[in-house]
Amino acid sequence: MTPPLARRLRTVAAGCGSLALALAGLVAAAPAGSAAAPADSVAQYPNYAPTPPMGWNDWSYYQCNIDEDTILGNARALVDTGLAAKGYDTVTTDDCWMTHSRDSAGNLVSDPVKFPHGMDWVGSQLHAMGLKFGIYEDAGTATCGGYPGSLNHWQQDADLFAKWGVDYVKLDGCNVPTKAGETSEQSYHDTYAAWSQAMLNTGRPMVFSVSAPAYFQDGPDWNKVIGWSAQVGNLWREGADVALGQESAAAKWSSLKYNYGYNVGLADLQSPGRWNDPDFLLAGDSGLTRDEIQSQMSLWSVMAAPLISSTDLTHLSADALDVLGNRDVIAVDQDPKGLQGRIVQQGDGYDVLSKPLANGDRAVALFNKSDSAQTISTTAAAAGFGPGSSFLLKDLVTKHVTRTTGTIAADIPPHATVLYRVSAGGDHTAAPATVVTWHDAGTADHPGVYSVGVTDLGPTGLADTTVTLTAPEGWTVTPASVRLNRIAPGQTATAKVTLTAPKAKPGTTVNTITATARYVTGAAGTDSVSGPLTITTTVPYPALADAFNNVGTTLESNTAPGNLDGGGDSYSADALAALGATPGATVTANGATFTWPSAAPGTPDNVATGGQAIELTGQGSALAFLGTETGFTSGPVVVTYTDGTTSTGTLGFPNWCCSTTTDYGAQTALTMDHRNTQAGPANFGVSYRVFTNTVPLTAGKTVQSVTLPNQPAIHVFALAVTP
Ligand code: GLA
Repeated sequence: MTPPLARRLRTVAAGCGSLALALAGLVAAAPAGSAAAPADSVAQYPNYAPTPPMGWNDWSYYQCNIDEDTILGNARALVDTGLAAKGYDTVTTDDCWMTHSRDSAGNLVSDPVKFPHGMDWVGSQLHAMGLKFGIYEDAGTATCGGYPGSLNHWQQDADLFAKWGVDYVKLDGCNVPTKAGETSEQSYHDTYAAWSQAMLNTGRPMVFSVSAPAYFQDGPDWNKVIGWSAQVGNLWREGADVALGQESAAAKWSSLKYNYGYNVGLADLQSPGRWNDPDFLLAGDSGLTRDEIQSQMSLWSVMAAPLISSTDLTHLSADALDVLGNRDVIAVDQDPKGLQGRIVQQGDGYDVLSKPLANGDRAVALFNKSDSAQTISTTAAAAGFGPGSSFLLKDLVTKHVTRTTGTIAADIPPHATVLYRVSAGGDHTAAPATVVTWHDAGTADHPGVYSVGVTDLGPTGLADTTVTLTAPEGWTVTPASVRLNRIAPGQTATAKVTLTAPKAKPGTTVNTITATARYVTGAAGTDSVSGPLTITTTVPYPALADAFNNVGTTLESNTAPGNLDGGGDSYSADALAALGATPGATVTANGATFTWPSAAPGTPDNVATGGQAIELTGQGSALAFLGTETGFTSGPVVVTYTDGTTSTGTLGFPNWCCSTTTDYGAQTALTMDHRNTQAGPANFGVSYRVFTNTVPLTAGKTVQSVTLPNQPAIHVFALAVTP
């Protein structure tokens, strides 16, 4: 998981500002001539957002590549897709809309190239479309992207925004200097409180989005900052920035899980009209699966989070539009009771959340965080209901309505969330709720014999149940279809099925086998339920070079991105060659002998680990790795021996440029004084290194294969068994 600070800094570097700027924000000295500190206590900012704000913001998708066509094109798409009518009504232009300096009167100036008609004109266009006008500024000396911040210009900027017809202000917290004699927290408080008062002074109702808490995360003053954020504003950013549009789907999913995990614990800090903001919705052209974007939408709604899309709405897929536009899910988010849902149950790879709704219903989310399908089960009592024996479950995505005597359960694919609206009592003609449960009767996660159970959770029985099984091409399921006896309320009927798999190719393959039960219920006629089973197979690659696909070294004459670090930087192949590390060469270091990857510089040379397994043979005391890291992490290595037993160890390396060279117990193998970048060789005053590290082997056993950590920041150049 990316630490929040690292993510924030990376965001700035990848966007339009400089790393130095962001760092300056954390350590800046007091500017000369600060205005008088505003009063410590500030009036409670009016409740301008009685339900969580909804709309669109350009940042995650476009960063600084914006202009008035981008903003207005997306605004029109909000209207044309019908999303605006469903509540997504605030269009916010994030960072980079300004010129780099204020005008002679000290006013902020719109970038004349990006916004030739001015931001006030953009606002008037938004208003003409029936939308609200949101804008970004920063509480410090400069925005995160390096444009003028509002420090000491509070009233002037608030007046300008009010004059422009702004309805929503996102006030970021980069580059807030600490005033002499104050703590950083006090200085942040002063500038945010001053803004709050300045906005009140304008007389124009403007929703106030406060970013301050995100700058105090994990620090001792974080609680104080969140406390006054609810006083000075309507919503506040916490967690990290969600991954940017150009990042990988895996990075996006991991950032969504991080922000979910952070935000879900903050329900105590929220009250109706004062909202925790875990950042943007990524439904859209994001590479995330339908289950993943639905999970975010459902979880954000149960957490009463702002629903602010950041994608290209002019090319919205049908799936993304469906997910964003689901009125039933939006209604959970916007419920007038205004409460953030809480975790009521947690288990292996899953969370259950419950949110009380104004009419006495509860929204119950079953979130499968894991990489395998599972049946998640809770009860109406755990979800917060009083005693009762009949509850209606409305699946807010499929709209399927069923009735349970008290168990609330669903069969959930990996990364998916089922969101029910649960009501006590209700329509007694609804079909009984049911689930399909898979049990492995043999070895876990392998093809073999499984038992498939169909459970009736409702008050009436199931008749004529047929279970049909489907599997990927090449698999067999015997039998392919099974008849089950009548299933009484509360009972489970099971069948045994045998699964066989085709010979898998080297690599990791995720297979889904689905059991669908069709049955006749009383008054409700026929109904069905489907339960997936995930079987993941990992077959070792014959050699390390077959396993990966990442460019890590480039010749200095080649300024195309080598991209070892995700930012376009790579090892200098020339500097490596000077140390003897050329394709296919032998590298001896710290008692181990390796073969340097034989791929030529600039071609995929197969180094980033992602849980791949590699065939390797030999006996010895340790397994040695030659490699490096572009993150700060470690992960498990699993060694499989020829007798079928395994042993594990932990592998991590120091960062290739910038950390203690003995991190994770590693040793330096090669040291270079520069790296290659898109502008050619660069020396940033640090050394670049390749390291060795080891994990122990079981004495006397012969190695058959090695599974590397599932950590793309870890790069393995070579591995060898040492005597
Ligand atoms: C910070 C914020 C982002 C975005 C950028 C703009 O990183 O958290 O949401 O506003 O600044 O530079």
